[in-house]
Order: sequence, then C-alpha cells, then structure tokens
Amino acid sequence: MLNKLLPPARVPTPISGFQQIIHGGDYNPDQWLSTVPTILEEDARLMRLAGINSSSVGIFSWTALEPSEGQFRFDWLDRVMHEQARIGNKVVLATPSGAMPAWLAEKYPEARRVDRRGHRAHYGARHNHCWSSPAYHERVADINSRLATRYKGHPALAMWHVSNELNGDCYCDLCRARWAQWLEARYHTLDKLIDAHWATFWSHQPTKWQHVEPTDWVVDGMMFDWLRFNVDQLIKWYRFEADGLKRITPEVPVTTNFMTTTYSIDYQRISREVDVVADDQYPRFDPDAPDFLRQGIFWSMKNDLYRCMKPERSFFLMESCPGAIQWQTPQKLRRPGVLKLEMFQALAAGADGTSYFQFRAGRGAHEKLHGAVVEQVIPAGDIAAAEKMALKTRRFSEVKALSAAYDKMTGVLGTSVRPEVAIVYDWESKWGQKLSAGTGVDEYRYNEVAAEQYAPFWKAGIPVDVISPDRDLSKYKLVILPQFWVITPLMALKLRKYVEDGGTLVATYDTGMADEHNRLHLGGTPGCGLHEVFGLWVEETDRLPADAARPLTATPGNELHLPHDLAGREVAAIAHLAGATALATFASDFYAYRPAVTTHLFGKGRTYFVATRLDEAGNAALYGAITSRLHLHRAIDAALPAGVTAQLRGVATGAGTEAFVFLLNFSKDQKTVPLGTRVLTDLETGQTYRDTVPLEALGARVYRIE
Ligand code: GAL
Repeated sequence: MLNKLLPPARVPTPISGFQQIIHGGDYNPDQWLSTVPTILEEDARLMRLAGINSSSVGIFSWTALEPSEGQFRFDWLDRVMHEQARIGNKVVLATPSGAMPAWLAEKYPEARRVDRRGHRAHYGARHNHCWSSPAYHERVADINSRLATRYKGHPALAMWHVSNELNGDCYCDLCRARWAQWLEARYHTLDKLIDAHWATFWSHQPTKWQHVEPTDWVVDGMMFDWLRFNVDQLIKWYRFEADGLKRITPEVPVTTNFMTTTYSIDYQRISREVDVVADDQYPRFDPDAPDFLRQGIFWSMKNDLYRCMKPERSFFLMESCPGAIQWQTPQKLRRPGVLKLEMFQALAAGADGTSYFQFRAGRGAHEKLHGAVVEQVIPAGDIAAAEKMALKTRRFSEVKALSAAYDKMTGVLGTSVRPEVAIVYDWESKWGQKLSAGTGVDEYRYNEVAAEQYAPFWKAGIPVDVISPDRDLSKYKLVILPQFWVITPLMALKLRKYVEDGGTLVATYDTGMADEHNRLHLGGTPGCGLHEVFGLWVEETDRLPADAARPLTATPGNELHLPHDLAGREVAAIAHLAGATALATFASDFYAYRPAVTTHLFGKGRTYFVATRLDEAGNAALYGAITSRLHLHRAIDAALPAGVTAQLRGVATGAGTEAFVFLLNFSKDQKTVPLGTRVLTDLETGQTYRDTVPLEALGARVYRIE
C-alpha cells in the first residue's frame, strides 16, 4: 500500500554526491575582516562546532571584490574558500549583482532603476539595477567571469548563486523599448493587441507599440502582460548570468533564491531555468498566535509547491531565520522548538538542505538585529571565549542539535513522495483574479483559499502535490482547482480528458472566469466548455466582506453525507444546474435553494463544484467524504490529533521499500499520535514505537517505517 505513494528511485540532491543534508548559512565575513582579521578561522571553528556544513558566500560583496572599476581584490575570498574547503564545507558562491558598488552607480547612472513615476533612483539599498542597462551587463559579465575562472575546480565550490532574490521592475527608456518589442513579438499587429487588451476601453487603442503605457492601471489585460514581461526580463537576466558561469564551470549547478509565493513573480516558470530550486522563507511562526496552525498548514503547502516545481531534483531551503526576524514587527523571538519544526517541515516535503540568513550577524546597519546562528552575544576576536559563549546560547545550541539530528537522517536524501492528490497552483489565475477590479481580493487571498483546500489533507496525513497547470494530471486520483480564474481552451481540454478518463476534479467559485488576456468568458462559466464537465453554469457572483456568512443547507440524503450545518462565507457563485446534482444549497438571500456544492458524473469520472468559500468544517466534510470515496492513502492510517500532520518521504525500488514519516506538531500541547498498523523507529533516538508515539509540544520528529 505504501508503495503506491513512493517513487521508484531517489532523485539527485542539490549538491550531487554530497552525502549530508545541507545545513548552512549566508556568510558575509567581508563585513568583518578589517576589524577582526582572525574572523575566518574563528568562524570555521564555530561552524564546525554548530555542524554547519555549507555557506553562501559573496552575495553582496561587489565592492569588496572590485573596490574601483577594474581593480580587483580576491585575496580575502581566496582565504574564505580555502578555509571552507579546509573544514570540508561546501560553498554556494554568489555573483555580486544583487547590490551595485557606489562607483558603478556614479559612473553608469543608466544602471540605476527608474520607478513608475519616471524617477531614476539615487545610489542605495540593493536589488535595484535596471534589467536592460548595457553597462550593468558588461560589468556583471566581467566580475562573474573572473569569479568563475578563479574558482573553477576549487574543492569548496559546490553551486552558483546568481545575484539575490531577483525581483522588481524598471521603467527606464531601455526597459520600455524592450516592452514595446515584447508586445510586438507577442501580438504582431496592434489590432490583435487592442483586441486582447480590450483597449478600445476609454479610448486606449495604441497607434504605436510605444503607446502601451505600463503604468496605466485601467487596462488589466495590459497589466497582466506587464507581469509576464517582467518575469521574462528576470529570466533573461538569470540566463545571462547563468550562461556566463556555465561556459566556464559547466559542471557546477546554478541557482537563484526564490521568495516563496511572491505575487509578481511566477516561480513555476523560473524554476524551469534553474538547476536547483532554492527558496527563502520567513514565516511568522508564533505558537501564541491564533493563526499558528493555519500558518503551519500554509507553509507546508508552500513546501509542496516547491517540491513540485522540479520533482526531478530535491529542493533547497536557501534562507530562513534561526532567530527573530528584524523586518517583522514586533520582533518577537522564536520560541524554543520552532526552529526545528520549521526546518523539519521543509525536509518533510522533500528539501535536502536548509540554510539560514545568516551565519554571523553584523554589528551594524539594517540587519544587525536579524536573527543569526552567531549573534552579537558571542564575541569575535577571541575564539576560546566565543566557543564557550556559543555553547551557552539557546540559538547556537538549537542549531547544533539540529545538525546532530541531520547527521542521523541522511537516509532521507533523495527520497520523495508520489501523492494521489494534486492542487493546481496557478500564478496567472492569481494575477487575473486580483487585477480584475471588483473581485476585491488582495495578493494573499489566492494563497488562503488554496491552503483551505489543502488543510484537510494535511490534517489527515495525506500527501499532496501542488502543481503548475502544465503538469500531467493523469497520475492523480483527485485534482483540485482553487479559484482557477484563467482557463484556456487547451487547459479546458486537458481537464475534460482527465475527468473523461476517470479522474475526480474539484473546482471552487471563480474557476474558468477569464481567458489568457483576462477577458471574461462568454456564455456562462466555467468557460471554454468546462460548464459541461461540471454540469452547471454560473450566471453571476455575489461578493461580500470576508467574514460575511453564507449559511448552507445540505441536501437531505446527499451522497457525500455532508452535514446539515454546513457553512460558507464571502462568495456565492450563483449557478444553474445543467446535469449536476446539488449536494448543498444556499440557505439565504435571493439565491436561497440555488446550488452551493454540486457533483456531476462525466465520462468515467466525476466533478464537484464549490460555489462558496466553505468554512473549515465544510472543507473537512467535503474532502473527508471524497477521501473515503477514492480510498486515498495516508502516511499513517489513523486519525491524527489536532495540530499534527504526518508527512511521507521514501523510495520503492525493486530492492525494497525505504520510507520515512515526519510528524510535525503545530500546537503547544503534547500529543499522543496513533500509529495504526505502522511500526516506527525514531531516527534520532533509535527507539521503536507501535500503536502510539508521544509527540512533544511543537515537536518535530522523523521515523523510519519498519
Ligand atoms: C532576504 C535576503 C537576505 C536578507 C534576508 C533578511 O530576503 O535575501 O539577504 O536580507 O532577507 O530576512
């Protein structure tokens, strides 16, 4: 039974051949070397003590490497690389393009980004270079090729880290010229563009490609394209840096760090460019907060999304905070145990490494209060005192304990999971829904609703893939479309075929509303013929504030046994049945008795349509019933206590099955977890459990399935 959920082979890990779980950190010793010349040796000692086996180096070090144009200083980086190699650490070496030197900003003003009001930025901050500037390209190509040539073949060099968190847009003349070219390449004629953007609206028809004004918010189809264009700009930039590195060190994997589910960046597209998917996450995991469990569920979903971006290689949690995050206020300290919970959560979803921002916190500037493995309480300049103090501090001890745990769990490297359930996560739907004035959604609503569909599976320990729409659906028993706003004819055909062939498809309200230009579909939604698949058509959608209740009435004797007191909120898609059966109806307002949850047999499969935002109990009832109907497999075949999830990783080869269960407790109470028929051995303690296993408050544990 377990075999059904496991892949037939291990996948490569982020650093091929490295038989350890990566446990690393951003490392910026260039901020220290002039005042504490012994810092490299001290840090090496502290890294060893903490069990840190990798470091991300040089991320914003351009001025340290090239203090003035054409004058280079690699001596300090040579020493860093040497020291890291000496202690057997792997280096993720960054290109420095994430922050430009002052001399560059002065000499090449075109490299500085222009904002939407047309103002060119003064020198300062970071992540602010123009995507098109020839001078910036030239200077970056030069420093990158020097770095690659110098460290080619270096024993510490394990991965390239392009720039840092590539993001943002530029409105300079060069970028605007690229935009005009991009539009022309996409639409060929202005008439086609006018049609796609519905630009006759308010007399917005351009008569030149250059007329299409990217700051003009009224034409949402155009803004949709501006988002796409900027992802292309980012990809072009990434390719420019990555290709330059690969020409010199083809054997070294290249990546760049993503920022979870950032609204404006379609990371599913960018993931196709990188060798390793790497993410930076900063969840607000506060066990005292009422939304702690909800947060936990959301970040598990995010991790599943990341596994699915590149299932052929395990992902890497590149940045996380071992302490308190200084840009989140109030700066509440991470409670004991939360760090392990967050790191195990990433590993549970298939990550093969976790790293921190950062290893050693600086003494000054904007991030001095940002949590780090080595914070200012640990002195610099006296290694004996530093080691003594480090062992007395909570943060350092937690990191050290985590390393010890990682040492015992290398068996999980390269293992993964083959879920029977997929949630389709679509950046374009997120854009289309938010850009459409009237939906009233902010950039987080999409994630919230997706996580609400994900939650029942998380709580039941049922593995879920969170996939982009272009993935193969045929391997899943159940596919869920939360607010799948954009439907193209091709996607509609794919969904239709999936159901015809026997699949079960669930969609929520706001599915199939618009085409790829964000123009609404005609003739009732879900569009592109999907209303036949769902056996209904939506006439109009009522949108009320998020807390506005939508009481529902379950149809007596409904086949899913949905309970009588079912409730939704916020949205009501007012639909007409055309073949589907109502499992529940709205109970109030002028659309009382209209369908709220429906089912429809289509081909060999079945669809469900959910016309409102079901509350937690409603989603639990709906997906619980579908789970039983489809006999979905769980990591542990028993009901998990509240706040606890069980996540599976493993491999089922001809030689046998090797599988691991992670238990994560997103609650402040100790739990007793029933194990059903599973026999589990804790990888850290070696203890074997049958029937039940105790799990401490905020506990995170990993077990081998015997
Ligand atoms: C990330 C960034 C790091 C650091 C960190 C602080 O977004 O990549 O360089 O600034 O935030 O949380």
